[in-house]
Amino acid sequence: MGIQITPSILNSDFAALGAEVRRIPGADWLHVDVMDNHFVPNLTFGLGMVEALAAASELPVDAHLMIEEADRHAPAYVEAGARSVTFHVEAARAPVRLAREIRSAGARVSMGLKPATPIEPYEDMLPELDMVLLMTVEPGFGGQSFLDICLPKIRRTRELVARHGLETWVQVDGGISLETIGRCAEAGADVFVAGSAVYSADDPDAMVASLRAAAEA
Ligand code: DX5
Ligand code: ZN
Repeated sequence: MGIQITPSILNSDFAALGAEVRRIPGADWLHVDVMDNHFVPNLTFGLGMVEALAAASELPVDAHLMIEEADRHAPAYVEAGARSVTFHVEAARAPVRLAREIRSAGARVSMGLKPATPIEPYEDMLPELDMVLLMTVEPGFGGQSFLDICLPKIRRTRELVARHGLETWVQVDGGISLETIGRCAEAGADVFVAGSAVYSADDPDAMVASLRAAAEA
């Protein structure tokens, strides 16, 4: 599949979301951060917004669920139009069952790991996943600084995926910029969420192209 850029609208202008999502036609996915004020100390939006964005954007929606009780709530996001759904392993009671449920509902499924959550305990469940999302900041807010301590886990995840002969995408999320994207790509990430880097740029679509070029370099 190669390098993919998935801008997050978390730092865009919420009062003009319809227009904001049309500013990045060169992106591969639209990353939508769902937060419930429990799993993370911030509250954003839910099913209704995912449905509206899926209808308003040409880009497929990549829903990142930072919510408790993922088993109960995640499958409905497929119904709402998300083409990829990430639940957090820290919030899932039965991650294998949940992954199968999301896949059989017709979306790609991804499992998210916070910076301090290791990948090794989940090695055997990699075949159940289309993507692994590795947080490179503590989830909750855009605009935080990239955590270098996450780089070895990117490398180890890529090695596990390769060892099992899988095509699982490795997504990184948090603090991705022109300055950090190269190191993540070099470590083995292939899908890059970028929020503030894209939406604080004068030309967000040009920034998407620059990020892609930096990851491919
Ligand atoms: C943070 C979210 C991210 C956020 C990234 O919890 O999951 O997707 O929007 O923002 P930046 O790129 O500014 O770190
Ligand atoms: Zn996110």
